[in-house]
Amino acid sequence: MTEPLIRFSDVSKDFPKPDGSGTFTAVDRLSFTIDKGEIVAVLGKTGCGKSTMFNLLSGLIEPTSGTVSVTGHDPFKEFSYFRGKIGIVFQNDRLMPWRTAIDNVVLGLEILDAKKSDAEAVARRWLSRLGLSGHENDWPHALSGGMRQRVSIARAFAVEPDILLCDEPFSSLDEMTARDLRAEFVRLVKQNGKTAVFITHHINEAMDVGDRVMVFHRPARIAYEARMDEAAKTTGRQAIQEEILKVLGLEAKETKPETKPAA
Ligand SMILES: Nc1ncnc2c1ncn2[C@@H]1O[C@H](COP(=O)(O)OP(=O)(O)O)[C@@H](O)[C@H]1O
Ligand SMILES: [Mg+2]
Repeated sequence: MTEPLIRFSDVSKDFPKPDGSGTFTAVDRLSFTIDKGEIVAVLGKTGCGKSTMFNLLSGLIEPTSGTVSVTGHDPFKEFSYFRGKIGIVFQNDRLMPWRTAIDNVVLGLEILDAKKSDAEAVARRWLSRLGLSGHENDWPHALSGGMRQRVSIARAFAVEPDILLCDEPFSSLDEMTARDLRAEFVRLVKQNGKTAVFITHHINEAMDVGDRVMVFHRPARIAYEARMDEAAKTTGRQAIQEEILKVLGLEAKETKPETKPAA
């Protein structure tokens, strides 16, 4: 059996309480594995610890206990090893307002010491794949929210990382734009043989994007997991959705729409 690409083993993260009275646990003995080529959607309510898990995975913070392993390396202790190997897309596009679309995409490649002309060709190609040909020299402020997020996806893919990590990348977009970008994202991950972890608090988004959906409780721990194979995506979808709603404690509100009396 091959070693999974990503492994969390009994990972906990405690933060000091703001009033100084000890610590509270944001991630609680979390264990899971992710194989190469999978897209795993992580679903949970706001505050359940998704971003903390994300920060542990991307090596921005260190676990209080347990181990995080990505391709056999520790993302926190070996942070620089992962330069160019992980692409990140955040909720906010985090584009540099003083750089054009193409220069924002080029930025990640410059950090990897790519030649300027090579970097521009790669950036142009990724912008084109994301439907932004003709917008290379636009400033971020001149682009719509959806287009800006396309630029940040192009920037993440352009360094040819093995792994894409996304923390609620489409949460601030309107539903129609988000739907397009979800499909686009899945297509690009699959076509390019990447592995992705996609955090969201939208049930349908998790089910549309993930090959697998992991539902988190608060503090972050797996409460339920579903594999979204073809059967699950079609005939079994409703059953999975109901199970997720139940786990999230939302069943009454969302599965039984209230029938309003006629006015
Ligand atoms: N650096 C930090 N210091 C203290 N508390 C934090 C820190 N980061 C996150 N938290 C707390 O951890 C909990 C989980 O937060 P977060 O991981 O951002 O949740 P989510 O992304 O699921 O909304 C929250 O209660 C949050 O306030
Ligand atoms: Mg978050």
